[in-house]
Amino acid sequence: MKSEVNYGTLPLSLTDEGNLLLLDQRKLPYKTEFFDATTFENCCIAIKDMIVRGAPSIGCVAAFGLAMEGVRLAEKISQKSEFLHALDQACLVIQATRPTAVNLMNATNVIKDKAHSHNLDDTSKIANELMLEAKRYMQESIDVNKKLSDFGVELVPDKAGILTHCNAGSIAACGWGTALGVMRSAQLAGKNIQAFVGETRPRQQGARLTMWELAQDNIPATLICDTMTGHFMKENCIDMIVVGADRICANGDTANKIGTYNLAVLAKYHDIPFYVAAPLSTFDPELASGDLIPIEVRDGAEVTHIADLDNRVSVTIADAKTRNPAFDVTPASLIHAFITEAGILRPDFKQSISRAFGQTH
Ligand code: MRU
Repeated sequence: MKSEVNYGTLPLSLTDEGNLLLLDQRKLPYKTEFFDATTFENCCIAIKDMIVRGAPSIGCVAAFGLAMEGVRLAEKISQKSEFLHALDQACLVIQATRPTAVNLMNATNVIKDKAHSHNLDDTSKIANELMLEAKRYMQESIDVNKKLSDFGVELVPDKAGILTHCNAGSIAACGWGTALGVMRSAQLAGKNIQAFVGETRPRQQGARLTMWELAQDNIPATLICDTMTGHFMKENCIDMIVVGADRICANGDTANKIGTYNLAVLAKYHDIPFYVAAPLSTFDPELASGDLIPIEVRDGAEVTHIADLDNRVSVTIADAKTRNPAFDVTPASLIHAFITEAGILRPDFKQSISRAFGQTH
């Protein structure tokens, strides 16, 4: 599933017959399987079950899902206001599949706004435009990731040990990657880097997905357990930390995969720069601070069991009580800078973030 330019493995592809195929990220790296997400319902299932995951990739799939629903609705609804109402309802359904990644809301709002702003009355023509808009949105996502990653290169010292968490690569960001994109751009710029990858319990995105992507890119990578990160910082193996994000507030507070906050606290203690690489579509400038971010809570079975979904092994007693927040919030005060397509945003974040939005919107 490669694009013409090597932007890495893409999480989705649209076939000539118009089918939307998703690389099943639950099965990697053990199996390469594709999930047919050609219907709106299947797009919702794919996002909820993490067949596709990573904030920008979720956004792209949701954009296609809503556009495909537009095509289906237009086949039976010719009255524009009725069509728009049904599309708005579908938008609410797909936005509820995962609450934290704001790209999901932003991407589907782009599709919805496109329909509402259309001056034609023919609903099938509007629906076709929505498919084109979803394709445009995906291409923009790829371009933006490359741009922000290239900005990040200046922050990477030569021979750097770079710790990352979860997976913010091409399959998560819909082309090139964000945190992994910075590593790819740094390597392309001739810097020797060494990645350290936290396994990322409970879903093992670091161990399963980031290790798989870095191997494809020939970036040297060492897998460590999440519990080892403090040790390797103390041993001077880590020169910088770079992670992705699911939602960044107006003040810079950032939601990302559970465990990110731990790393930021440890980084502060060890005086290691902590960077967040994310496109502006991951920012939520309407939200003042991190305590307002909705945090997804997932099934406790992810905590009580490990390994791939077909072959789950319990790691605890039967009926163990669990808690399983999928994300945590890192306060802005622990973040050195955001790496975005508008450049490197440094404190004061309220100012630099609002300036970045002023520049591009
Ligand atoms: O639960 P996931 O796997 O969707 O969480 C993904 C992350 O936390 C990523 O770091 C984030 O979405 C950025 S992906 C470029």
